Amino acid sequence: MFGRVKPLDAILATAEKKSLHRSLGAFQLTMLGIGAVIGTGIFVLTAEAAQKAGPGMMISFVIAGVVCAVAALCYAEMASMVPVSGSAYTYSYAVMGEVIAWMVGWALILEYAVAAGAVSVGWSGYMIGYVEHAFAIDVPDALTLGPLDGGSINLPAMIIALLVTLLLVRGTKESATVNAVLVGVKIVALLAFIALAVPVMNMKQFDPFAPLGFGGISAAAASIFFAYVGFDAVSTAAEETRNPQRNMPIGLIGSLAICTIFYLLVASGVIGSVGAQPVMGPGGEVLEPGSRELSAQCAAIADQAVVCSKEALAWTLREIGWPQIGNLVGLAAILALPSVVLMMMFGQTRIFFVMSRDGLLPEAFSRVHPRYNTPHVITVLTGIFVALFAGFFPVGQLANISNSGTLFAFAAVSIAVLVLRRTDPNRARPFRTPLVALVAPLSIAGCIYLFWSLDEKSKIMFAG
Ligand code: ALA
Repeated sequence: MFGRVKPLDAILATAEKKSLHRSLGAFQLTMLGIGAVIGTGIFVLTAEAAQKAGPGMMISFVIAGVVCAVAALCYAEMASMVPVSGSAYTYSYAVMGEVIAWMVGWALILEYAVAAGAVSVGWSGYMIGYVEHAFAIDVPDALTLGPLDGGSINLPAMIIALLVTLLLVRGTKESATVNAVLVGVKIVALLAFIALAVPVMNMKQFDPFAPLGFGGISAAAASIFFAYVGFDAVSTAAEETRNPQRNMPIGLIGSLAICTIFYLLVASGVIGSVGAQPVMGPGGEVLEPGSRELSAQCAAIADQAVVCSKEALAWTLREIGWPQIGNLVGLAAILALPSVVLMMMFGQTRIFFVMSRDGLLPEAFSRVHPRYNTPHVITVLTGIFVALFAGFFPVGQLANISNSGTLFAFAAVSIAVLVLRRTDPNRARPFRTPLVALVAPLSIAGCIYLFWSLDEKSKIMFAG
């Protein structure tokens, strides 16, 4: 069992036999990438990163982006060589055997399903903020926050997760079209934010730059890494891609580059306009984001800090005198974040689909709907779990748990690239990772460093 690998040629042959329809091109893939990447990370977790690192979160964004870039280069080589569904799971199966593949498969479940839950919770924060500001209605916390966050159940987050499930059962092509429109909305919202916040930047807000030292910057990098998660979901669509050898690398690296530029601009806009210093306890002690102590301290200062907000970008715009635009950016997040949930769940169902096709999960999971041509059984099952995560856990915790699985999978892919260069050097590689002897080890080391910088709870959940 430990030595059993699935030869690449066999993987490619299975995919031919029981396959999904190839309908996606380079543009659609890049859109899928941006659709999956820009989301809760920048719209919501910017506040968490500020609480951990202060203005130093700029460096956290760069660290997380660099780790993702080197991992993306490794992903692109594998995705172009093995253009079938399943992402890191499939690659590990071909290179490192069934047991590692099975572990990576479950790590990807943490990545995608838990991330879909996190983004649903992020959506709920913007939804509630919008309703409260635009209609001056006070929505009770009990129904809009999970039990660890001071409420009972996060109903809006559960509802959005279930609606996305319905959309996915209907079919990929329709889903990708809806996605492209929503990506446009998201980009316009971030551009509007940048255009209004960057001109009123005050460089004094960047001082002190790293109030909690480099430890804070590392911890923020490990959390904000979530903002980049998702570009690899592009590779899970390889089986549905036309000319994957060319289009996969474009989709992966293009979407990552665009997102990084946006993030740095948005983060500097938040820091420079309203300031992003962490809120400390009454005795000057460091407070964890998402903790009761921080909520209490935020209440004491009437939530007058970006780190207290569950809708950081809308809050910032309201603070700098653009309340209507703030509401509109909130509305854009409400419209667009579901596309991230969609991509995450899409990736999740495709990994389950391939694991089931390989016999590592019950065969019924890979049943394809006769009319919609989608793996409907597994889609519905995934949807139910995502809704449960979303209903009962806080966003930061879900994001960190998701990151733990992602980092494991990224490290596995980077190792697989190195191993395969040695064991099968002559196989055609439509995309070769440049400077692989440097890039792959850098990716592995980066993943270990970020994993290490996660909070204890997430690491324990990962092991579980
Ligand atoms: N990267 C995605 C987000 O930020 C998961 O929401």
